[in-house]
Amino acid sequence: MLRRTALAGAVLAGLGVWQAPAASAAHWAPPLQHITHRYVGSAVTPAHLAERDYRAVLTREFDSVTPENELKWETLEATRGQYDWSGADELVRYAKKHRKSMRGHTLVWHSQLPTWVAELPADELRAVLRQHITTVVSRYRGKIRAWDVVNEAFNEDGTRRDTVFQQKLGDGYIADAFRWAHQADPSAKLYINDYNVEGVNPKSDATYELVRSLRKQGVPIHGMGIQAHLSIEYGFPTGYRENLKRFGALGVDVALTEADVRMPLPPDDAKLATQAQYFKELWDGCHATRRCVEFTTWGFTDRHSWVPGWFPGEGAACLFDENMRPKPAYRAINP
Ligand code: G3I
Repeated sequence: MLRRTALAGAVLAGLGVWQAPAASAAHWAPPLQHITHRYVGSAVTPAHLAERDYRAVLTREFDSVTPENELKWETLEATRGQYDWSGADELVRYAKKHRKSMRGHTLVWHSQLPTWVAELPADELRAVLRQHITTVVSRYRGKIRAWDVVNEAFNEDGTRRDTVFQQKLGDGYIADAFRWAHQADPSAKLYINDYNVEGVNPKSDATYELVRSLRKQGVPIHGMGIQAHLSIEYGFPTGYRENLKRFGALGVDVALTEADVRMPLPPDDAKLATQAQYFKELWDGCHATRRCVEFTTWGFTDRHSWVPGWFPGEGAACLFDENMRPKPAYRAINP
């Protein structure tokens, strides 16, 4: 593992690029992206790139970015036929300038779906879905390394989620979505993505069976995306490493796509220590799995995390605090 020298650290600090926390001022860790051969990513809201410290930490630590909301259908095509590419394009420009890889999120999802899509009759929905996937994936051909093609298709008990796609198009919509995405960019890695599939449970079992069956049929699916939105209150998922390995054994890549570990606010030393353990196990388990190719967090700073808005009273879920100081979880994976 590389070590940043005190001199280099002092130079960067002098440039205002990086502020070390007081507790570890004498110790400079190399950026996360330099301590692993996996992609290390973060979800990004392009508007936040205007914040100097946000941009500096993102650029320094990560080598992959995922637009947090800008590639969702609701953002791209709120009104039928009128595309707004501005947010996604801004992140593509940032990625090009800083040589970052990109993950695309997401093509088929029941949430953040415009009402005009949900209201279409079946035959029209199928044509519109095909058109949407083709348009979006083609536009970013060669620029987006991997796509979350289908997001959150299962219930907790392993049955199919009753989405408009499932209701109107039937089970085959998933295979179709992968085929259409593959036609639009044959070199992109295509993933199915979900939450609560970190460990071995009915939902991950059902996803495993689906991936196995799609592979058998020759459907172009290349990866299993595991969101990894954890909470220190629910315990670490049982069978995490075993689960990663079984997907890898199917011949697909595995990616942690949205990792964060929330806690009841306010944080204290004990909660931060548990969070650090969880992040470390997520990280170490990925590195113990040959096919685990990516460790992406859903935002990197508590300043902008989605968690407090969705789970009132909870938060502090990221590797960096509101002031961009690395937290114990960061130091646990990058000691
Ligand atoms: O952009 C509008 C803004 O114009 C408006 O004034 C404001 C008022 O509510 O809403 C803004 O949109 C919000 C959007 O985030 C952008 O900030 C939506 O309300 C809000 O619902 C949306 O939340 C996003 C959420 O997905 C939607 O389901 C979160 O930022 C995003 O982090 C979250 O990400 C999901 C992944 O896509 C899938 N996995 C779970 C993950 C966490 O929920």
